[in-house]
Amino acid sequence: MTIVEQLAVLQAQALAAIEGAQTTAALEEARVAVLGKKGTLTAILRDMKSVPPQERPLVGKASNDVRRVIEAAIEDKSAFLKAAELESRMAASALDISLPGRSHPIGTRHLINGIIDEISDIFIGIGYRIVEGSEVETDYYNFTALNAPADHPSRSMQDTFYVLDRSGDVANVKGESDVLLRTQTSGTQVHCMESDPLPIYMISPGRVYRRDPADPSHLPQFHQVEGLVVDKGITFGDLKGTLDYCVKQMFGPDRRTRFRTHFFPFTEPSAEADVSCGICGGKGCRFCKGTGWVEILGCGMVDPNVFGYVDIDPEVYTGFAFGMGVERIACLKYNVPDLRMLLDGDMRFLRQF
Ligand code: DAH
Repeated sequence: MTIVEQLAVLQAQALAAIEGAQTTAALEEARVAVLGKKGTLTAILRDMKSVPPQERPLVGKASNDVRRVIEAAIEDKSAFLKAAELESRMAASALDISLPGRSHPIGTRHLINGIIDEISDIFIGIGYRIVEGSEVETDYYNFTALNAPADHPSRSMQDTFYVLDRSGDVANVKGESDVLLRTQTSGTQVHCMESDPLPIYMISPGRVYRRDPADPSHLPQFHQVEGLVVDKGITFGDLKGTLDYCVKQMFGPDRRTRFRTHFFPFTEPSAEADVSCGICGGKGCRFCKGTGWVEILGCGMVDPNVFGYVDIDPEVYTGFAFGMGVERIACLKYNVPDLRMLLDGDMRFLRQF
């Protein structure tokens, strides 16, 4: 076989090897086998010395042609393999966007927080401040300074959770005032009057605790919104006007209010306020037990004895206070038959509001 014939065979073999390479690594192997230092074409070129001088130009041209053909084939194949490999890598790591996503259910605002926000907006709109009280309170703020000193019978109206210290005794502050979970938000009135400049126009929403087993109309923990106004010249007329406005904002302009005398230790006179029944419009039905009215809050004029505890002169200042149960208002507004539903955390119930 002449060298030119050998070159033709070599070219055919090399092109077959290139064609057969399935990966860039295999293609590189095929390239090295022909064009590498120990490659077959390199060996032939190195052997040029043994070619008679007159044939050298022909052989030189033929081997250069073979090299060019092989290099071009490698380049083509290499581009093809790289594209194919990129495509398969992309296919392997692709997201299947046709799969349904994993849902992360988010909660909803609880009905009770919704009502608190609504009441807060009403009172912010007429210039009141929102005050935050604390759920752990002392006997002094929860009872004594609200004109219910030790042994006052009104204390037994509210069964109280006391906080125990490590030895199991009721914890107390400065050896005098027992620590308890507040039974009412009214203690924030005392804190405010002790530390805020006059006049005071505030409401204070928050959680309270009582030793009551849960039933359709009682919960051991629930929410109240306390209200307090202290200014010069405040009258019972201001109290009625303010609460009537609040009720109409909350329940609708056609609802009426009425005030019945009642007793609270920290107000004098005291009253309970009723709103006309939303079910029968005031004619009397099962919901309002035939009376046409449902109770919504307690209120009254700040008792001068309470002013005495916080050094406010009752000859100069007067004030009114009120306290409403948020769960009760939620039930009235949305006809919820059982208070316990508010604590269940059942999204089917809560999502309705
Ligand atoms: N603290 C009272 C209760 O829990 C409600 C109340 C009544 C608050 C009259 C007041 C008020 O501020 O003036 O039953």
